[in-house]
Amino acid sequence: MPLTILSNNKKFSYKWLQFPKTCHEELDQQHQILLDRMNAIKEKQSQETKLATLQLMLAKLQTLFMQHFEYEEQQMLARGYSLFSDHFEEHQKFLTGSWLTLTLDAQGHIHFNLDALIQWNLYHINHFDRPMAEYLLAHT
Ligand SMILES: [Fe+2]
Ligand SMILES: [Fe+2]
Repeated sequence: MPLTILSNNKKFSYKWLQFPKTCHEELDQQHQILLDRMNAIKEKQSQETKLATLQLMLAKLQTLFMQHFEYEEQQMLARGYSLFSDHFEEHQKFLTGSWLTLTLDAQGHIHFNLDALIQWNLYHINHFDRPMAEYLLAHT
């Protein structure tokens, strides 16, 4: 089944290799693992891919996101981070949103908006994770 990775309804043609660094080693490693999994989905674009395979990859990615968010939330709570609520809310919005869903068109083609997922992560890391990491590193 053909998979089309979307970028503003055009084909997604570039590949992110690294997210912005937070200088918090564990966080950066977890972000890299998430990005590697996103790129693995992109690689399926050039193959005939089963819908079930992609759904499984996205389910695993969702689990990784949940574990990653839990890690950040535990770190924030343990160190009394004052912006915890805003950050937690952003995580919840992501998990209840449609960032990790595939759509099927009338021709049976699968579409996945990897661009939106990458952009969400870039924004989140820059505006939420980096200030958090700075605080965590200063309060270890
Ligand atoms: Fe976060
Ligand atoms: Fe993060």
